[in-house]
Amino acid sequence: MAEAGRLLFQSKSLSLDHETACASCHLDRFGSSDGLPNAMGVGSTGQGTARMRSGGAVIPRNTLPFWGRGGKGFTTFFWDGKVDGSSGTILSQFAGREPSQDPLVVAVHLPPVEIDEMVADTAEHSTLEGESVGSAAKVFDALAERVRSLSSLADPLAAATAKPVEKLDFKDMAEAIAAFIRQNFAIGTTRLHRFVFDGGPLSPQEIAGGLLFYGKAHCSACHDGPYFSDMSFHAVPFPQAGFGKNGFGIDYGRYNVTMDPADLYRFRTPPLYNVTKTAPYSHSGAIADLGDAIRAHVDPLAIYDPRSMTGVQRADFYERLKAWSSEPISGVYLADDEIRDLEAFLKTLEYDSREPVAETD
Ligand code: HEC
Ligand code: HEC
Repeated sequence: MAEAGRLLFQSKSLSLDHETACASCHLDRFGSSDGLPNAMGVGSTGQGTARMRSGGAVIPRNTLPFWGRGGKGFTTFFWDGKVDGSSGTILSQFAGREPSQDPLVVAVHLPPVEIDEMVADTAEHSTLEGESVGSAAKVFDALAERVRSLSSLADPLAAATAKPVEKLDFKDMAEAIAAFIRQNFAIGTTRLHRFVFDGGPLSPQEIAGGLLFYGKAHCSACHDGPYFSDMSFHAVPFPQAGFGKNGFGIDYGRYNVTMDPADLYRFRTPPLYNVTKTAPYSHSGAIADLGDAIRAHVDPLAIYDPRSMTGVQRADFYERLKAWSSEPISGVYLADDEIRDLEAFLKTLEYDSREPVAETD
């Protein structure tokens, strides 16, 4: 299944217009992300900043990497948790008609039906504008029909699922892609693992960073558990880059899913494996440097230039400070050398994927 899934993941045939593959935005070179602040969807070509220069549709969020996704207890997907299996029942845009009880398989269903991400916003696709479960089903059927006609993609999937090619549907494709993500990016042995379980070496600076992480810097109040994420939602006042999910440079985060004012400006705590490889940082990729991403948690003013902001942006920033003020990270002071120690500690969380991934036609 994982091998059949890798072929699907790499193929541009997974988008209605044959333009975009999953691997167009989730690239090895950038730690399974894309190296861009906001992702570039349909109409873009190339990798990294070349993708930005080629024009195309801007997706108002930073591309998330895959490390540990699909592991046991990894229940909550996307920056705003729009696929959430933490209660045991999956909550998602499918609203009770979830195609699977595996939250990763449900998450994999969403990119191919997302307007601008893999579906062009053109007259030809106007029937999809309703963005309903019904119009999503039309896209899934069209993609499955196409894949059934391409033996290079269909034969391995038929073999893996033990189904005849004509019976393959989009759910089989999504399960294969999920199997690929689960296997290829499964948590590997990091230097921190070796230190904890086998007494492997860490430098004094890395140890100092670890002590800060679990101690005075309170990082583990949110970045905890096997994925360095509590799978919950918190407010860190990162600057907002780009238009924002809610427009005019605003992204309400978790509130977009729950409509609960208490969730305004909250985002899922990002897991931290290989975080050294996935710059730029935060939900809108507003921060280029890892040290500044850490600093933003405790000293947001140090990375803002208030005079370069509009009055509306400053008002939005004050609202975000309110949400942040009740988080365990506000009121912490970190000196520059402590931030460098924390960066060194995060470097101990690196590992490699099993196999390289490349975009294909
Ligand atoms: C245009 C770029 C782009 C393409 C193409 C793309 N993605 Fe993504 N991916 C993103 C962005 C941006 C996010 C974060 C979106 C958000 O959270 O709002 C993301 C998030 C995800 C996540 C959630 C990870 C997490 O930590 O919760 C999964 C899973 C995923 N993508 C799988 C896929 C698959 C499978 C495909 C192909 C069918 C694909 N993506 C195609 C940009 C892209
Ligand atoms: C209150 C919970 C909380 C605490 C405490 C916390 N973080 Fe975070 N962290 C988050 C959230 C939420 C985000 C994403 C926010 C966003 O994008 O708007 C984040 C983002 C990050 C990022 C960027 C990740 C990425 O992929 O973009 C890094 C690196 C990071 N945190 C490291 C740390 C370190 C180091 C500490 C300790 C100094 C820390 N965090 C403390 C919740 C927290």
